[in-house]
Amino acid sequence: MPTEATEKPVLAAYPPSAEFAAQANGGAELYSEADSDRDAFWAKQAARLHWHEPFNQVLDWSEAPVAKWFVGGKLNVAYNCVDRHVEAGYGDQVAIHWVGEPGDTRTLTYSDLLSLVSKTANYLSELGLQAGDRVAIYMPMIPEAIASMLACARLGLTHSVVFAGFSSSALRSRIDDAEAKLVITTDGQFRRGKPAPLKAAVDEAIGGDTPAPSVEHVLVVRRTGEDTPWQAGRDLWWHETVEKASSEHTAEAFDSEHPLFLLYTSGTTGKPKGILHTSGGYLTQASYTHHYVFDHKPGEDVYWCTADIGWVTGHSYIVYGPLSNRTTQVVYEGTPNSPNEHRHFEIIENHGVTIYYTAPTLIRTFMKWGREIPDAHNLSSLRLLGTVGEPINPEAWRWYHSVLGGGRCPIVDTWWQTETGAIMISPLPGVTECKPGSAMAPLPGISMQIVDDEAHPVARGATEANGYLVIDQPWPAMLRGIWGDMQRFKDTYWSRFAEQGYYFAGDGAKFDEDGAVWVLGRVDDVMNISGHRISTAEVESALVGHDAVAESAVIGATDATTGQAIVAFVILRQGVVNTGDELVADLRATVSRDIGPIAKPRDIYIVPELPKTRSGKIMRRLLRDVAEGRQLGDTSTLVDPGVVESLRGGK
Ligand code: PRX
Repeated sequence: MPTEATEKPVLAAYPPSAEFAAQANGGAELYSEADSDRDAFWAKQAARLHWHEPFNQVLDWSEAPVAKWFVGGKLNVAYNCVDRHVEAGYGDQVAIHWVGEPGDTRTLTYSDLLSLVSKTANYLSELGLQAGDRVAIYMPMIPEAIASMLACARLGLTHSVVFAGFSSSALRSRIDDAEAKLVITTDGQFRRGKPAPLKAAVDEAIGGDTPAPSVEHVLVVRRTGEDTPWQAGRDLWWHETVEKASSEHTAEAFDSEHPLFLLYTSGTTGKPKGILHTSGGYLTQASYTHHYVFDHKPGEDVYWCTADIGWVTGHSYIVYGPLSNRTTQVVYEGTPNSPNEHRHFEIIENHGVTIYYTAPTLIRTFMKWGREIPDAHNLSSLRLLGTVGEPINPEAWRWYHSVLGGGRCPIVDTWWQTETGAIMISPLPGVTECKPGSAMAPLPGISMQIVDDEAHPVARGATEANGYLVIDQPWPAMLRGIWGDMQRFKDTYWSRFAEQGYYFAGDGAKFDEDGAVWVLGRVDDVMNISGHRISTAEVESALVGHDAVAESAVIGATDATTGQAIVAFVILRQGVVNTGDELVADLRATVSRDIGPIAKPRDIYIVPELPKTRSGKIMRRLLRDVAEGRQLGDTSTLVDPGVVESLRGGK
């Protein structure tokens, strides 16, 4: 496959063109402005929003690590994302160019979106839901999913979006943890060209012998039209309820710290964490970063973020950031290779997409498919590209730059997390001279460091000592806690460098000799599979839940396409017969049922023993060596060196 790397000399750094820089939303002065007075800088960014009542204090950090931003201010998040654009005369501007997987399309203007959100809000109120109640949203990428999130925001309900690829048991644990009163879902979803049931998974999650105690209703949008099981009284069709509700609704203002959403993400234990985000600070940073990092021009750009609303990227860069900035965006329901590998490029060409934001794993997949596919399309509308979710390897960066970007588009490699709520480290596209593979520098208003175990800053360009990425100043979109478990919140993020008061991100990183930030990946037991976080403990506990399994150890092994791939080592219970492929298939299915297809291990090795230290700790490093086919590292602390041979046998 020809890449720029083989055709042209490799550039060390890519400055923005003079043309791009001249028209960019953000210039170098943003950094100095933020440095000279951080609070004033954030107050100015907050003023990009509409406040029903102004705030009287930018930041209250007196109860650290729980921040209060824009204290005393009141706003309505949905009003900021929809109503104010209509009131300003942009009701006819397209908000969403929606593309369904089977090829159906819908166009929603800001007026259409306002009407849909208002109807939904009216009906949710009619159901008796009140500010502070939680609503679970388990839906494919259709406009009603976005409208549901905005209707919750409008009413002060806290939404918990659960990725529709998660299993019913993953859905159930999230519903129970949040004590959601309502679940919004669809009859089914299209996946790789075929309809698949979704409401059935909700029934499995909340019905049966042990119904979910908190759930009062299930609101169902018809998407695939397939037959759907129904529980009269509990289940409600969207088209018989929401669509008949009034489209007039006045948004009420909520406190800046009112809870906006919970989003569950994997930690180092088997139990996902409900990350809590609130309103004013979150929206300020989502909106600010979307405006400057993507250089977005309302009414001119056509923006496309390829994430799913089940992940934080969908929350911040499909829903809240873009809509608050009056974006016209593409929302695509399906997979990139349905009906064929041209899908994304066709969409870019047909809609004249100017800003495209995706994950490195997809770029590597495009590379594998071959450049003749994008080359068959006119992609000249693109003017800015972005990536998120995992480190991007320089070769994929250059390919993205030259093949999709025609060599003219800046690339913003954006580092952030579910917990940070919005982008933290990224180039500013009109300013930064980008190095392929580096997220470059903290954004104006954000302060971070890279430190060693003793909290000492790691020197620039130090080759040996990689450090930990920490954030040393509070930021507006920071998480406000873990739902129902403030102790875990403190332990996970704030105890590692408690004395210094640093937020511990869980990522390893280094500064190069020029001070550019290179994020190296997780330093904990969290894997990154195609940019999605999955904990080793979650997969291990799913495997141990299978009758045949006595013990398991899971690691993330390097994978050329997905970044990391899940590899499991499994010890069978005594007396269980190893049926080989059949058993492995069954184990993979168990994980898929328990968590979701994204957590299915790529490889499962049945082994007689696991390598353990004398203190009984599994030596994951050795397992990684085995899985990646490397020479084994130091085995001197291993209690039984013979285990290594048996592991190799297991392969
Ligand atoms: O390890 C980092 C990686 O993804 C983790 C956060 O995952 P999640 O909360 O699911 O959010 C993903 C989308 C924001 C981080 O701890 N990560 C994310 N972006 C990058 C990255 N690693 C390197 N470079 C990035 N640009």
